[in-house]
Amino acid sequence: MITRRSLLSTIPAASLLRAQASAVTQVKIDADRVIARVNPMIFGQFIEHLGRCIYGGIYEEGSPLADAQGYRKDVEAAVKRLNPPVLRWPGGNFVSSYHWEDGIGPKDQRPRRFDTAWFAVESNRFGTNEFLEYCRRIHAEPYLCINLGTGTIEEAANWVEYCNGVEDTHYANLRRKHGHAEPYNVKYWGLGNEIYGMWQAGHKSAEDYAKVALEAAKMMKWVDPSIHLIACGAGDPQWNTTVLEMLGPVVDYLSVHFYTGSDDYYETLASVKNVERLLREADGAIEFATAKLRGKPRPPVEFPLRTKRIEIAFDEWNVWYRRRDGRDRSVKAKLEEPYNLRDALWTASMLHVFQRWGDKVTMANLAQMVNVIAPIMTSPQGMYLQPTFFPLELYRARCGAEVVSSACTGPVFESKAMGPVDYLDVCVTRGGGTLMVGVVNRHQDRALPARFEINGAKFGRAGKVYSIHGPSPDSRNTLERPSEVTLASRAYAEFGSPAFTFEFPAHSVTLLELS
Ligand code: AHR
Repeated sequence: MITRRSLLSTIPAASLLRAQASAVTQVKIDADRVIARVNPMIFGQFIEHLGRCIYGGIYEEGSPLADAQGYRKDVEAAVKRLNPPVLRWPGGNFVSSYHWEDGIGPKDQRPRRFDTAWFAVESNRFGTNEFLEYCRRIHAEPYLCINLGTGTIEEAANWVEYCNGVEDTHYANLRRKHGHAEPYNVKYWGLGNEIYGMWQAGHKSAEDYAKVALEAAKMMKWVDPSIHLIACGAGDPQWNTTVLEMLGPVVDYLSVHFYTGSDDYYETLASVKNVERLLREADGAIEFATAKLRGKPRPPVEFPLRTKRIEIAFDEWNVWYRRRDGRDRSVKAKLEEPYNLRDALWTASMLHVFQRWGDKVTMANLAQMVNVIAPIMTSPQGMYLQPTFFPLELYRARCGAEVVSSACTGPVFESKAMGPVDYLDVCVTRGGGTLMVGVVNRHQDRALPARFEINGAKFGRAGKVYSIHGPSPDSRNTLERPSEVTLASRAYAEFGSPAFTFEFPAHSVTLLELS
């Protein structure tokens, strides 16, 4: 095997890369060695009152493409293909000046407000009941994020009562009056969004945030002790530690957000290594805060305190750099990022990261689901799917619940920011007697072979190959040409157990299904 280090001293850089790129990647899979369990919640989505995500996206009253309640039927069908187990709402930055009571009751009486997050007018015609009804239709768990920018802790507790209350009390009765006799039992509640950021309405220091979030958490749990809480994390270990030292006993998750991207093909693909760094740091903060809390008296709060380890909710992630028009008042269609095939490769690699981190990252939410930095794009007349849609759909539908050990040795490229990065990114899951070998070939213009050796289980020769590729890494779909990049599948009879070789097309995502 040609290794990077042994060649470095003797061969000049350009020919080194050429030599490496032609090498065969060796992949040793231990089908019996489970290294992580994947929570399906990693395939979650996020919708925000921003641009055309909600209005003109999932909801368009009066459109011939919408049903009587205003939900776009074509979009709903596409969302069902993504099959998200959890849907986060209403923001994002939007939530930090959102008052949920504006969005309930008769639609024509709801106030129109200036949205200070995105410099736009919010009609409030889509609110709590419209959102929870949407979750019911697509079979997703709702995940509500509270306003800890300009909102109060009482307002947050009232929201829990409106959604989940069962007694004869004002907000539970208001829900009944609005036509919803049964409680919704909303389980997931976020304690504010990106409160560390100056761009956020009511942004705060870690100490100030932790104090108010703890008080909100108490009141919300007093209303419904069964809810699960997500603390607002940051890409800053100091913030995370301060927040967790205070909130540790009451929250279930720490949130992480990540956006990346540039026109540099390889640097963008390499950025997933940065995500692993972020995760190590978030995990380290959880570890550190938990250790500091050990042995300390637990707050006397009259609801069951968390006993499990704090998990990570990666509740915003995506490529986002082309459309930074969120606060441009003249733009209605904000953040409508056009995605290409390279971005689909990045998306698949992110899913690999979440799979490998399955024991710690137990929820993730792509930002966002429709029109706004999204895999699903609409116009008043129709819709199309961006390349990033396909890895999300494929992995959600086909991957197993357990990640098994796979060791890879093969050619790498040098990223300026992240150092050496494998051309082939491999992640293997199993489930239901099937092994799913996910492979992203990051090479921009070369097909690359890999030699697989599988230990611990016997597989038949016949299986299936799913692949996402297209003529160029820049290939993308549009309303006029919706199928430049799609998902293809075919039967394949040449797998061999315990070993076989397979060649992966340049700039592609492939899932090999072995039974
Ligand atoms: O997803 C777009 C925005 O990115 C969200 O509103 C915010 O939370 C993040 O800064």
